[in-house]
Parts: sequence; structure tokens; C-alpha cells
Amino acid sequence: MLVYFVTDEPTKLPAIRAMLEPQHAVLPWVLDGDGTRIRSHGVLIVDIDLRQMARVDQLRFILQELSTIPEKLFVVHNLSRSMVAQAHALGATSIISRPKEAVLKVAEIEHAETAAEDDAADPALEMDEGVAAFASIFSNARRGKPMKLADAQRATSKIITRVGQDGLSTWLDEVRRYHQGTFQHCLLVTGVAVAFGLDVGFSGGDVSRLGMAATLHDIGKARIPLSILDKPGRLDPEEEEIIRRHPAIGYDLLKGVGGINPEILDGVRHHHEYLDGSGYPDGLSGSQISDLVRLLTISDIFAALVESRPYKAPMPRPDAYQILCGMEGKLEGALLRAFRNVALAA
Ligand SMILES: [Fe+2]
Ligand SMILES: [Fe+2]
Repeated sequence: MLVYFVTDEPTKLPAIRAMLEPQHAVLPWVLDGDGTRIRSHGVLIVDIDLRQMARVDQLRFILQELSTIPEKLFVVHNLSRSMVAQAHALGATSIISRPKEAVLKVAEIEHAETAAEDDAADPALEMDEGVAAFASIFSNARRGKPMKLADAQRATSKIITRVGQDGLSTWLDEVRRYHQGTFQHCLLVTGVAVAFGLDVGFSGGDVSRLGMAATLHDIGKARIPLSILDKPGRLDPEEEEIIRRHPAIGYDLLKGVGGINPEILDGVRHHHEYLDGSGYPDGLSGSQISDLVRLLTISDIFAALVESRPYKAPMPRPDAYQILCGMEGKLEGALLRAFRNVALAA
């Protein structure tokens, strides 16, 4: 961690360095000298003679510059009571009597900081609400319970917010790290579709509908046996036939749900259709396939290619994009070119 060492005696520096480096990086700031690079994290160690008012004034200036650093460790030799009070008045968070004690203190602070960072930045926790809503959609579908559209809306709007704020790459990395199988796939497709919709300038309503269609697109897989869904090798023709039923199953699960948008139903049923008529289940072609479905299909294939599977590194995004480009004719060329930004964005 970064340790800012403020001192009135440059000769104290080598001892501090010897104690703390290389585990920590010591950035010295000697009174009367120039400041260090100012950062907002790390720990500050102050070792100056607090009886000298001129030095205390200089220190005040430095403390102002480094005010965003939360931990301030003051060395007060012999722990003289008036100097301890002075240190507290200057904002000390810990007081030690010898520089040597700094080693333990810095280690303690680092430990606490790492734990706090783990809590705050744990993407699994941040994603929890959206993912929980998502899980509920799948488990209801699996158990034949009525679909709650509100769950899908909650999951989708969480994903729209995350992708809008942090970008697609962060979303892909987090999802691949924490989720597997169909669950991972649907979260990835939704992130990709939302990023695509945002990138081509869709209105908020259109991004939501596309996001909802993506969230629900493979809901029919909730009714396909896991032995087929998670089969590691190639599917035999019979299994292939079963898995190809999922768009129609999904459509049937959703068509009676009150308030569901017809475009979402269209996306769920037709995300495996191709412009040349070679897709399924209805063998649609050309203008029979809506714009929303075209975007969804591209997002679905791309997400499937970059998926992370046990013991297999995900395909790099440029390779996945190349494969999609090779499918022009089945997929719309103009949309594939527009998708480049999304597929390759850092
Ligand atoms: Fe699908
Ligand atoms: Fe899919």
C-alpha cells in the first residue's frame, strides 16, 4: 500500500523505508520540500517535532493537501500527553511512540482496507438483485408456476443500468466469473443486446423491450432436461430436436402473461430464425423477421461464442465477431457492421 511519510528530518527516511519496503511504497514528504504525487488512498505517517509551531503550521498545509487519505498515523516520541493531544487536534487516527510500530499498524490498516474493498466492490453482491429476479423467472418456468413479468423487468432494468454505467466489457467479465450454463448465457445475451441497442441509438423504450426479449429469449430452456442442456459433447439428432423446441416452449409459457409486449413474444419465438429462411421454428425469412429480432439473434450468437465454460477459455471477442461476419446472408450485413463497435469495444 502507499505510505506517505511526512517528516522534518530527512535522516529518518532510510529507517522507515527499510521497515516498510518492499511490501509498501513509501512516498516521502519532507517539510520545506516538494509534495509527493497526491493520491486518495494509502496511509499517512507523520513524524515531526510537534513542539515546533512553525513545523506544525507547515504540517497543517500538507495535511490539507492529503486530506482525502483517511488513515493518519502520528509518531509521538515518549507519548507526551500534550503532544498526543496536539496530534489528535491535527486529525491523527492512530498514535504510536516509535516509527517501528508503524509496521504493524500499516499491516492492520491494509488488512481492514482490503476487507472493506472486497465487500464494496464484490460484483456478485452488486449483481445480486438482478440475478435473484432472473433466477426466480427460471425456477417459476421450470416448476410450471405463473411467470411474473415484474421479475423480468427488474432483472432487465438492473442490467441496463449496469451496462450503461460500466460498459459491456465489465458486464461480460463479471457474468463469466460468477455464473454458469443457461444462466450465464441469458445474462450475457441481455448485456450484449442492451449494449447494442444503446450503441445504435435506440430509444429508452426500445432498449427496454430488446432487453426484456433477451432476458426471456431462452426461457423455454427451463423445460429442457439439464442432461441435454449441459451435455458437454455434441448432441445426437434426437437431443438436437428436443433443444430446438425451446423457442416455441418459451413463447407458449409467455403468451398468456398479462401485459406482455408482442415484440417480446416475437423475440422469444424467433431468435433462431435466419434471413435466408434456414432458421427455426417457423422458417421465417427476410422482412418477416423484425429489427428487434435481428438484433437479438446477433447478440445471442455472439454471447454464445464468448461464453465461458469449465476448462475452456472464452473465445476472444474479435474471433467471435469474425464468425458472425461469416454469417452475412443469414444475419443482416448493415447490422453486423453496426455491431462491430459493440463486439470490439474495450
Ligand atoms: Fe435460444
Ligand atoms: Fe440463446
